[in-house]
Amino acid sequence: MVQVNEPKKPWAGRFEKPTTRFLDEFGASLKADKRMWEEDIRGSIAHARMLAEQQIISKDDADAIEAGLSEIFREIRDGRFKFDVADEDIHMAIERALTERIGPAGGRLHTARSRNDQVATDTRLYAKRRALDLLQANIRLREAIVTLAHMHQTVLMPGYTHMQKAQPVLFSHHMLAYFWMLSRDATRFRHAFEAADFLPLGSAALAGTTFPIDRSLVAERLGFSQVTPNSMDAVSDRDFLVDLVYACALTMIHLSRLCEELVLWSTEEFGFITLDDSYSTGSSIMPQKKNPDFAELIRGKSGRTLGDLVALLTMLKSLPLAYNKDMQEDKEAAFDAIDTTIDSMTVAAPMLSTMQVNKDRMYQACLGGFMAATDLADHLVYSGIPFRSAHEIVGKLVLQCEKAGRTLQDLSFEELAAIHQSFAEDSGKLVDIRSVVSRRNSEGGTGPEALSLQLERVNETIASDIDWLEDARAVPWA
Ligand code: ARG
Repeated sequence: MVQVNEPKKPWAGRFEKPTTRFLDEFGASLKADKRMWEEDIRGSIAHARMLAEQQIISKDDADAIEAGLSEIFREIRDGRFKFDVADEDIHMAIERALTERIGPAGGRLHTARSRNDQVATDTRLYAKRRALDLLQANIRLREAIVTLAHMHQTVLMPGYTHMQKAQPVLFSHHMLAYFWMLSRDATRFRHAFEAADFLPLGSAALAGTTFPIDRSLVAERLGFSQVTPNSMDAVSDRDFLVDLVYACALTMIHLSRLCEELVLWSTEEFGFITLDDSYSTGSSIMPQKKNPDFAELIRGKSGRTLGDLVALLTMLKSLPLAYNKDMQEDKEAAFDAIDTTIDSMTVAAPMLSTMQVNKDRMYQACLGGFMAATDLADHLVYSGIPFRSAHEIVGKLVLQCEKAGRTLQDLSFEELAAIHQSFAEDSGKLVDIRSVVSRRNSEGGTGPEALSLQLERVNETIASDIDWLEDARAVPWA
């Protein structure tokens, strides 16, 4: 027997047959969009007040609507609200409950409005709120990185290219590379907030409305800085979500690179760091194991957010104007990306703050790999030898050392002087790893003087994001 749904649909007037319960469930989005309940209610209250002020509905009706919505607000907030199996989405659930409570006045709320501009409004309000949460988590993570950089300013470690030892760097410099990646992500979260900061309400289904509405008033009360300029674009645009999810996906890609390094550095082979026990797990069979599970999991979750971005872009691809039901698929992808990214940043921050930095292991690793070779070549260049010839001379020296199983630091003063008389003066200092690092004070380099300038820029950058976040949070919404 085909099951039919009992409650009457708002559009029932035009239909002779109902849909099956299975189809209703298939078409529903409540499970995902119920988290926008607060946005939906605030949006409706702002809309109803404006309708009354423009004398489109009576003041009494608007008051009844506001009182009813406020009651529903408290019920949902306190977990007392009863959703109906037949509620298709959060918008219908709230309107149904409102009408049950206040009768025909509830039916006037949807005047000059469609679910198309309503859902776009809710989603933008939600995206704005979560963009700020993302920025907040991003700032906390960057603060953890900065603290680490401050604490270990003299720690040396090998820098790699092609995963081969290249030149020694300061551990702080390496960590701050992640600070700057995440700073660009912060800029992207700020941009995503601004992209969402346009009020679509008043666009109605797609063409605007015959009622004398005041969109700017609603925008101001909901904390939007502008109203959308084209009703068709307004109801079919989800670019602001793409912007936000892209910022999430790229953050996760950055975290996956960081976590990959943490996993590698915590191997016995590297031993550069030891993750705190509280950020590690054991094995059910091998008693000795201590696994960097959480770093691995963040690395793994980056795939999901990338998938969310692709899902969202693909959903939008080739969609004709204006609203299409395909767009209902936007929320699950966006919410998943937002949740995953906030959680991952929230886990990464204390994982970094609590890890132990094994500076002796890092220093020992700096002695191998002939990492002073570029400095020997540069030294020859300072004595007038063309860089290409210098490169060849030092290359041969490295080859000799490698064959003999020696390091550059093992070479005697006489051996170096025999290669070129300019090595006679300060050959020892030339190959000393700390001096190698200390010489690289070009702007943005790893040398200690360049690092202190970098730390000043770090402070300015983070302070400007904190100020921006405070200003954005200070804007009231309904
Ligand atoms: N649940 C829908 C969504 O998320 C709301 C808009 C539905 N509008 C419509 N005309 N069917 O997109």
